[in-house]
Amino acid sequence: MNRAKIDEAFDKLKNHQQRLAGIKMREMFVLDEERFDSFSTACNDLLLDYSKNKIDKAVLQDLFSLAQIAHVEGKRDAMWSGEPINKTENRSVMHMALRYSGNDPVLVDGQNIMPQIRDVLAAIKLFSDDVRADKIRGKTGQRFSDIVNIGIGGSNLGPEMVCTALTPYTKQGLTKQGLRSHFVSNVDGADLSDILKNVDPASTMFIVASKTFTTDETMTNANSARNWLLAALGENAVKDHFVAVSTNIAACKNFGIDEKRIFGFWDWVGGRYSVWSAIGLPVALAIGFENFEQFLSGAASMDEHFLTAPMEQNLPIIMAMIGIWHRNICDFSTLAILPYDQRMSRFSAYLQQLDMESNGKTTMRSGEKIARASGPIVWGEPGTNGQHAFYQLLHQGSDIVPCDFLIAANPHEHMGDHHQKLVANCFAQSEALMLGKDKEHVVAELREEGMDEGEVQKLAPHKVFPGDRPSNTLIYKQLDPATLGSLIALYEHKVFVQGVIWNINSFDQWGVELGKQLAKDLLPLVKGQSKQQTHDSSTHDSSTHDSSTLGLLNQFHKLES
Ligand code: F6P
Repeated sequence: MNRAKIDEAFDKLKNHQQRLAGIKMREMFVLDEERFDSFSTACNDLLLDYSKNKIDKAVLQDLFSLAQIAHVEGKRDAMWSGEPINKTENRSVMHMALRYSGNDPVLVDGQNIMPQIRDVLAAIKLFSDDVRADKIRGKTGQRFSDIVNIGIGGSNLGPEMVCTALTPYTKQGLTKQGLRSHFVSNVDGADLSDILKNVDPASTMFIVASKTFTTDETMTNANSARNWLLAALGENAVKDHFVAVSTNIAACKNFGIDEKRIFGFWDWVGGRYSVWSAIGLPVALAIGFENFEQFLSGAASMDEHFLTAPMEQNLPIIMAMIGIWHRNICDFSTLAILPYDQRMSRFSAYLQQLDMESNGKTTMRSGEKIARASGPIVWGEPGTNGQHAFYQLLHQGSDIVPCDFLIAANPHEHMGDHHQKLVANCFAQSEALMLGKDKEHVVAELREEGMDEGEVQKLAPHKVFPGDRPSNTLIYKQLDPATLGSLIALYEHKVFVQGVIWNINSFDQWGVELGKQLAKDLLPLVKGQSKQQTHDSSTHDSSTHDSSTLGLLNQFHKLES
């Protein structure tokens, strides 16, 4: 990567920002009646309107030039060709293969990985069909009514978000009653116990989902769930009630899980990119395998688009480059994800891991420190709830927060005018953020209401909206499995492109390790064990901890009953 050329491209973009400083977005809309047509593009039914960002054609052109200089397309092709682009872990990055349905071989280390992917998909189909048809039953012969997925991070967020988003599809398929899905992730015992209180061991299946099968939270929850099950159903119940999804087959067997109930995946699938693998088993169980295939095919069509569409029409590249404009040129540090869909309540949490675990880094591939800001802080809540909470800051706060609005044209339930109201709110918010309201307008309105002039002057400044606040809107026909698949893949590729621009490895996550290590070290001190009791020569010596941590430990022991 030619750093001087990259810097030059960023400087050029900075100049554009200065050039556009004197004009408001609302004026841009007045000057160019075709602005929506010029700054919107679609992949199948999914349309991205990016016209409410403070960019013009020259900016866009130079954003694409930056993408070219950074070799975005070449790096994308390298990922798909199986190159081990995750250099710090020496791994290929092949989540696209998990949803690929074509006939060409897909190679990693010279080996076609498609047969193993299809074998696991066939196993998921067989298993999920049989569970949904009540052919696979618990130890006592009862049908399964509840599926409890035990996993954290990528082994939780994807399946939980997707199962929640696709609730309308959970009753379709082979069983009349459907299966209830539950997700346990937190090592806080409250998470598991709140679920165990409401399920019957005889009709409950546990899926232990962990790429490594060593993650402390997951193994702690899995062991407690196993104890709970064994206490109710006896020693040999594990094989009938536990399933595993992992790359670590030996550890799954060690746990007591029947080999036939272990669904594998591979180290070229990152945790946060794994919902398409066997990690999606709870999804297949909840919505049925055909719908799961639709989910995969929606993602595959976005992959095809990402791999083949020219930059000017390439949704992930456009979204990524607008994000670069916001982060690096405008210095906006966060990104709000605002789905106008109650069932997308876990979508921003899902994107937090996808984006922040991928691009929350300041070390470049070369090992040097990055010279500019990288991944934004991603957050959000479904509209309209957010409107009555944090939108105040979005409209009038001192920080400018770029927003992604998401909305379906069709709801799954036709209930009066609920959906039209939802749509009107969604469109109104992006319009209000863009338009704003100046003082003249506010004063005129207040006078028209007959307010006393002194009061008008006092109140007016509080009612001014600066406007010029950027947003994207994604609109689609309906939140069906294929559309959700496309949306997730869109964000995956967006994050990839931004990682290329920043020249960081988006596929490792070393930043989570230190906390894990210290928690291990602190546990004996929390438990009140001495160094000798734990037979560990190197760690958990209280002298190695700072006074704040030791103070908290002392207070904990004082309060602990
Ligand atoms: O938080 C770190 C992490 O490794 C994530 O990347 C991953 O999704 C999560 O932990 C869970 O890991 P595993 O699936 O191996 O239990």
